Amino acid sequence: MATSILKILVVFLSILSPGVLSKYQLPFQLDTLVLPVTKDSATSLHVTNIQKGTPRAATPLLVDLSNKFLWIDCERNYTSTTYQFPFCHSTQCSRVGNHYCHNCSAPARPGCHDNACAVMTTNPLTHWNVLGELGQDIVSIQLAHGPTSGVFVDVPQFIFSCAPSRLLAGPLPKDVVGVAGLGHNPVAIPHQLASHFGFRPKFGLCLPSSNKGNGVIFFGKGPYELDPGYDTVSHPIVGYTPLTIGPRGGYHIQVTAINIGKKALPFDISSFFRTKRGSFAKALISTTTPYTTLHHSIFMAVTKFFGDQLSWAPQIQPPVSPFGLCFNTSNIATSRMGPAAPSIDLLLQNENVTWTISGANSLVLARPDVWCLGFVDGGIKPRNPIVIGSYQLENNLLEFDLARSRLGFSNSLLFKRTTCATFNFTSTP
Ligand SMILES: *[C@@H]1O[C@H](CO)[C@@H](O)[C@H](O)[C@H]1NC(C)=O
Ligand SMILES: *[C@@H]1O[C@H](CO)[C@@H](O)[C@H](O)[C@H]1NC(C)=O
Ligand SMILES: *[C@@H]1O[C@H](CO)[C@@H](O)[C@H](O)[C@H]1NC(C)=O
Ligand SMILES: *[C@@H]1O[C@H](CO)[C@@H](O)[C@H](O)[C@H]1NC(C)=O
Ligand SMILES: *[C@@H]1O[C@H](CO)[C@@H](O)[C@H](O)[C@H]1NC(C)=O
Repeated sequence: MATSILKILVVFLSILSPGVLSKYQLPFQLDTLVLPVTKDSATSLHVTNIQKGTPRAATPLLVDLSNKFLWIDCERNYTSTTYQFPFCHSTQCSRVGNHYCHNCSAPARPGCHDNACAVMTTNPLTHWNVLGELGQDIVSIQLAHGPTSGVFVDVPQFIFSCAPSRLLAGPLPKDVVGVAGLGHNPVAIPHQLASHFGFRPKFGLCLPSSNKGNGVIFFGKGPYELDPGYDTVSHPIVGYTPLTIGPRGGYHIQVTAINIGKKALPFDISSFFRTKRGSFAKALISTTTPYTTLHHSIFMAVTKFFGDQLSWAPQIQPPVSPFGLCFNTSNIATSRMGPAAPSIDLLLQNENVTWTISGANSLVLARPDVWCLGFVDGGIKPRNPIVIGSYQLENNLLEFDLARSRLGFSNSLLFKRTTCATFNFTSTP
C-alpha cells in the first residue's frame, strides 16, 4: 500500500518538475510537509496560506488549533473546477461525525447542492455555528526537507466544509477566507494528511512573533528542523507532557502548579480539578485567543505575585486594557531574549516537567513605553481555568504527537538563538 502510493508519487513528482526529480534520485523524503504562518499585526492572530483548487489559488486561513476541519467561505469567490461534494450518507460524510442531509434551494454552486452532506461549522472568534456543505478539492502542500524540499505535492480530494459568507465574521485578519482546523477529528488537517500520505498523525507548530517573517507548521515524521544550520535547534524539544482532548476537539494539558521567579505561587491552582489520578487545572492551548486567559482567582494571584517579584519596577496605574499589570519600560532591561522579567513556570505532570514563559512571551508592549503582563482575566466562570494564548506560544516549537497523545515543547527558541521565522521556504533541490 505505502509502496504503491510512493510509486504513484514518484511518477507524479517527475511530471511536476521534470529534470529535477526522477525515480533515480530516490530515496526522497515524503514524510514531512510544511505550511507557512504569518502574524497579522492588526489582530495579533496567525494566518496560514494553503494552495487550493483548480487553478491553484493561495488561500489565507486563520490558524485554529481547536477547529475540527478546514472551512472556507465558498459563497463569495470559490470558482475551482475540481470541486466535488460527497453525497449524504457517503463514507466521507460519516468520517466527519455529526452531519445532516441537506438540500439547497438556490442555483447549484460549491456549497449549494441537493442531497449534500451538511456539517456544523464553527467560527472560533464569534462562536457561531452554521451548516456548511461538505466538499472535496485539491490541496497542494510543500515538502519540508531532503532533495525534494520546495516541491509541492497534491492531495486530490481533501475534505473541508464549504460555508456561507455570513460565518466569516468577527475580528478576523484582513484577507482571511476561512479557518485551518488543526483540532482532533478524522478530517482535521493533521489527520487527513497523515492518512493520505501514510505517516503518523503528528504536527509541529511554530508561530512567528511579528509580521516580518514566516513561521511554520510541520506535518508528519520530522525532524522539525527550523534552521538546519544550527545544531542546537535540530531537536529543540525540552519536555513532553500528556495531551488530552476536550469535548470540542481542542488540545489540553494539565497544569499542577505555577512558579513565578522560581517561587511557588501562593495559590492552589490544582483545586480546579481533582481526580483519582491527580489534581490539576486543565489548560487549553489556543491559537485564536491572543493572550493567555485565566480564571479570575488565578489571574488575581498571578498578577499580584508577578508584581511582587518585579517590585523594583514602578507599576503604571491604571493598567492598559485588557491587561491587569503594567510597567514603565524604562525600568526593565531588554535584550535579544526579550525583557528581563521573572520567569513564569507552568509545572506539568511533575516538578521536573516545566513549560517556562520568559519575558518575550510574558510582557507585551501595550504602548511604546509600557510593558504589560500579557495575561487576561477570564472571569469567574470560564470554560477552561487556563487558556494558553498565542502570544505565549510565539517562538516556541510545539510538537503535537497525536499517536502517542503527548505534547513536546521547546520553551523560548530565543534562548537557542533562533526563532520560528528561520525556516527557509524557498530552498530548492
Ligand atoms: C476572486 O478571485 C479572483 C481570482 O483569484 C480575484 O482576482 C478577485 O479579487 C476575488 N474577488 C473577491 C471579491 O475576493
Ligand atoms: C431533498 O430533495 C430530494 C428530492 O429532490 C428529496 O427526496 C429529499 O427528501 C430532500 N431532502 C431533504 C433533507 O429535504
Ligand atoms: C516612564 O519613565 C520615564 C522616565 O522616568 C518618564 O519620562 C515617562 O513619562 C514614564 N512613562 C510613563 C508612561 O509613565
Ligand atoms: C525530578 O528530578 C530529580 C533530579 O533529577 C529526581 O531526583 C526526581 O526523582 C525527579 N522527580 C520526578 C517526580 O520525576
Ligand atoms: C533559502 O535557500 C535557497 C536555496 O538553497 C537560498 O538560495 C536562499 O538564500 C535561502 N534563503 C535564506 C533566507 O537563507
